[in-house]
Amino acid sequence: MNNYFASETSRGASHWPQLRSAIENGFTLVATYPNSAPAPVQAWPSIAVTPEVEVRAAPASKKEVAATVRRVKWSVRWYLDSIVLLAPDDRACTSLIPPLYDVLGPGYDALVDRKRNVSAAEGLLATARRLLSRPPENVLDFGCGSGLALGARNRPQFLLGWDASEVMRRTAADTGMTVLETKSLDSVPSGLFDAVISCYVLHLPGAPEGAVAAMRMLRTGGVLVGNLHHSADSGEITRACSGRGVRLEYQEHDPLHGDILAITHLRETK
Ligand SMILES: C[S@@+](CC[C@H](N)C(=O)[O-])C[C@H]1O[C@@H](n2cnc3c(N)ncnc32)[C@H](O)[C@@H]1O
Repeated sequence: MNNYFASETSRGASHWPQLRSAIENGFTLVATYPNSAPAPVQAWPSIAVTPEVEVRAAPASKKEVAATVRRVKWSVRWYLDSIVLLAPDDRACTSLIPPLYDVLGPGYDALVDRKRNVSAAEGLLATARRLLSRPPENVLDFGCGSGLALGARNRPQFLLGWDASEVMRRTAADTGMTVLETKSLDSVPSGLFDAVISCYVLHLPGAPEGAVAAMRMLRTGGVLVGNLHHSADSGEITRACSGRGVRLEYQEHDPLHGDILAITHLRETK
């Protein structure tokens, strides 16, 4: 395992070769804070370190990894079947997501089924079209990742990407997507978009809150359409909608892409 050790600490460095090699060899990756993992987890070799996140490779079966992280009693989130987020509490777990994607960087595409993600984006755009009763022209891709939605056959005239991870934003821009180059969406004017799509994002901790906040950028009557990975439940998105003047309008299970959800603004009653 020693050859997996990486000494790079520069932000956004691509550790992908080491990560891929570990995943291909059946290791489970554990993301935690640099130098703060509890003892049993620290025993696993570190393969990627940035100032905000450390990724370790657990040389044990998934069952053993699960038992160890349970013993540690930190907050645990499994992700993409081969990565575990481990932090003292849920809030801290959420904060690990953007730096984890900074580490995955341009290697992200090799981790997912690209065709499936493109077809999921097509499905979300089709749902938006159905709910709006016309094709959306200006669409924000919230959590755009590497920009796979660009491959959607029904892609709108203006598709803008945004992602919480700086490295993913750069990766999407490198693949030709127009990206909102900002760390936070707070400064972006309201009412710009017909629809927001969010493809394989809303199951991630913290993402529902951010996506519902992004609905501020929708024009009146606009819609947010997203899907949830596998069997992730809609509890967090339902909570994120509460008290925000929006409603979970539509939910449909898709065997390939998990649950597809649409959120609309509440209509004013006269
Ligand atoms: C599984 S990837 C999906 C990427 C892309 N939509 C696709 O279908 O390939 C999840 C993406 O969501 C981003 N993300 C996670 N939490 C986010 C948040 N709160 N706000 C914006 N982006 C977020 C991650 O950085 C990552 O690029």
